[in-house]
Amino acid sequence: MCGIVGYIGERKAQDVLLKGLSRLEYRGYDSAGVAILHGHKMDLVKKRGKLKVLAEELNSGPIPGAIGIGHTRWATHGAPSDVNAHPHLDCKRRIAVVHNGIIENYLELKNTLIKEGHKFISETDTEVIPHLIEKFYKGNIEEAVRKALKLLKGTYAIAVLHKDEPDKIIGARCDSPLIVGVGKGENFLASDVPAILDYTKDVIYLENHELAVLTKAGVVVKEHSGRRVAKKVARVKWDISQAEKSGYRHFMLKEIFEQGDILEAIQTERLRDGRIRFQELAIRDNIFKRVKRIAIVACGTAYHAGLTAKYMLEELAKIPCWVDTSSEFRYRDPIVDKETLVIIVSQSGETADSLAALREAKKRGATVLSICNVVGSSIARESDGVIYIHAGPEIAVASTKAYTAQLAIFYLLTLHLAKLKNTIKTARYNMLIREFRRVPNLVKELLSEYKPDYNPLAAYAQEFKRYYNEKHNKSFFLYLARNINYPNALEGALKLKEISYISAEGYPAGEMKHGPIALIDENPWVVCIAIASKTYDKMISNIQEIKARNGIIIAVATEGDKEILHHNINYLIEIPKVEELFSPLLVVIPLQLLAYYVAREFGYDIDQPRNLAKSVTVE
Ligand code: M6R
Repeated sequence: MCGIVGYIGERKAQDVLLKGLSRLEYRGYDSAGVAILHGHKMDLVKKRGKLKVLAEELNSGPIPGAIGIGHTRWATHGAPSDVNAHPHLDCKRRIAVVHNGIIENYLELKNTLIKEGHKFISETDTEVIPHLIEKFYKGNIEEAVRKALKLLKGTYAIAVLHKDEPDKIIGARCDSPLIVGVGKGENFLASDVPAILDYTKDVIYLENHELAVLTKAGVVVKEHSGRRVAKKVARVKWDISQAEKSGYRHFMLKEIFEQGDILEAIQTERLRDGRIRFQELAIRDNIFKRVKRIAIVACGTAYHAGLTAKYMLEELAKIPCWVDTSSEFRYRDPIVDKETLVIIVSQSGETADSLAALREAKKRGATVLSICNVVGSSIARESDGVIYIHAGPEIAVASTKAYTAQLAIFYLLTLHLAKLKNTIKTARYNMLIREFRRVPNLVKELLSEYKPDYNPLAAYAQEFKRYYNEKHNKSFFLYLARNINYPNALEGALKLKEISYISAEGYPAGEMKHGPIALIDENPWVVCIAIASKTYDKMISNIQEIKARNGIIIAVATEGDKEILHHNINYLIEIPKVEELFSPLLVVIPLQLLAYYVAREFGYDIDQPRNLAKSVTVE
């Protein structure tokens, strides 16, 4: 939610800020702006719309200066507009602030500041920050920022400039991510690593309640109280090319096609001679042995990965398990204690609801394990132990490769726990490891049937659009599945609705007769996951019920299944034969691609769907 960039050095700040913001646009894209200092002059340009609107404006009249801050916004308080875009200024237009987060007590602060004579021009919560800093400014920007921070309640990562102190940028954070990029004779601030990777791989991860003072020559980190903190400089392992489209039309498509390689890399890293290794994990096996129940807590796609994990954990490790969305978990009274293992799943590691759930679980005495992608993220740092999925940067808002990587980690964790708890026979364990090892190649084989620029799913998407228009936009999607693929029905529907804005619901197929079947006439397209499994016959009955009511069926079936062809289905998607337990890793791939091609057919902005942002750092 919102991306921040700051630069101080010798380069043209405008170029560094625009490049950095383009790498952070996944965090928000309804408006963008920069403030750049040139001597004691401050230029401010901010525009409603995507970053390209700001870039066009800046490129038509470039701003000089080698120190500046920039922002790409996902609106919370105040509609997307030029005025509400960041940076925000104080009354005398000497102080500029960009902010990611929500200032919860902004109304109270704003009313006090107005009484004291401050003039506000935007509807944002952020604008109180430059005015507070102005109030406390007595010739030292760092001190004024520190005093202002004491009054803020809520979440923030901020970057601050003062035109009378044109040799520094101040950054500070509380519950929103902020990193410092350390260069030679130049330094950077950013919400996330991709923004600075073109210039440096040396990074300082700021902790909550830390403040950084950046000059050209160096970086000093302090607590908000002013006490200096010694920080380690970490070296980022991945390359900027991983955050580029590499010839694909969209990041989402690139990320879908990366999945075979990622699953292979996970196996190379985690599986040696049939033994499962979680090198970075700080939770010892004796703690796992004592676990009586597991709660998996996550949002969106990560929640669906958790739902799938419940099936495997209960079947193989025999540990009772429940799955909660983070926003529900923290506001009810979950039964969580010392014998509970809480697993927080989060690609970004910054999702505010999941972070709050993690803290609640810790308060209740649970051991908290997180499964994250972003190294050093807040959730990873605050957990008792973390397992990284190492899927590389996921840029598209619609999560794809993180999902399959999360599932792969869950399979390994399940087998590890089953072995520890002695709930699996060695022969079955070995068979499952052998079968799991086949999955990356099966995924690659499956993907090779869907060439990026022509594939049958693109043709189905075309057909759907034609049908949708013919039915006067009344068509929608239903996804039905049973057992361990039921969460894939939810995931397929989520993918479709978030990027194509077409109504889509996922249901356990057995629930159809309890209500949703009332929706079936000739309008819906129903994706039925009917792979070879113990519930295959039941799925076939569901297919017949839908056909009897004129629904259009896309069946996802196992290669070589001849029977499915006798059920009058309209479209067929085949997946390679695999042990049912691991089938979610294959089934989800065509569902991701179908969503992609439908959105592409309708001409939508696939990587940046409306109203969404990649990393949801507000509750
Ligand atoms: O970074 P996280 O995994 O915590 O994010 C959770 C959800 O916000 C995320 O999965 C979201 O639902 C995606 N847009 C789904 O594609």
